[in-house]
Amino acid sequence: MATEPKFIVLVGPPGAGKGTQAVKLHEALNLPHVASGDLFRQNLKDETELGLKARSYIERGELVPDDVTIAMVMERLSQPDCVNGALLDGFPRTIAQAEALDQALAARGQKISVVPYISVPDEVLVERLSGRRLCRVCGKSYHILFNPPRQPRMCDEDGGELYQRDDDKPETVRNRLKVYWERTSPLIDYYRRRGVLVEINGDQPIEKVAADLRTAVADD
Ligand code: AP5
Ligand code: MG
Repeated sequence: MATEPKFIVLVGPPGAGKGTQAVKLHEALNLPHVASGDLFRQNLKDETELGLKARSYIERGELVPDDVTIAMVMERLSQPDCVNGALLDGFPRTIAQAEALDQALAARGQKISVVPYISVPDEVLVERLSGRRLCRVCGKSYHILFNPPRQPRMCDEDGGELYQRDDDKPETVRNRLKVYWERTSPLIDYYRRRGVLVEINGDQPIEKVAADLRTAVADD
């Protein structure tokens, strides 16, 4: 367990490998993995009120409004396993969300330790997202070419069926990239100005990105 509180924010476009790398870092650092997209997808599956509010935005590749998103993530961060830190994946995604996170951590006497920015060219992202498959049971992520399961269409961990996310259709992917550049990329400068940003080349094999990330979070 980390000795000092450690809050790591993974920033990067859709398909950069935030989820893939967060799972590895979670194992290496024993920090809870808090992924806003996963929290929304769980709410959609459970048909909660929050899921109903979020559905149309997610289907169109738009951002869910800040008030709904901030409340959901803050509730997750207030749980006991997050008192010593968390690995945030997909949140914050707007300046308003970043400010809300800074304020909430400051109120706890804590702050963000490091923000790895995983950069990948847009053309590579489209290829990654169109080949992504997820396990229906445990949510583990694969790629049909770059990170295939041992058996076709079956999860290595639990044999669960692999499926494609609805928002990984090409037209929705294009909108997610546009929204990323308009609304989320300003976070790169926001965190650079605060001296916590570390750029990671995400256009490398998964294990090489993982090694670079481990170095980046160990040095902070
Ligand atoms: P979310 O689930 O967060 O989606 P995203 O940011 O679009 O990111 P992805 O999960 O698509 O990409 P990733 O970087 O995790 O890549 P992965 O590791 O899977 O959000 C979904 C929606 O929820 C949003 O569109 C929005 O509507 C809503 N939402 C979520 N958070 C929100 C917020 N804060 N505010 C408002 N709305 C919010 O990798 C992708 C693929 O590439 C995989 O197949 C993987 O195997 C492969 N791969 C990974 N790394 C490599 C590599 N190095 N080489 C080759 N292949 C690789
Ligand atoms: Mg993800």
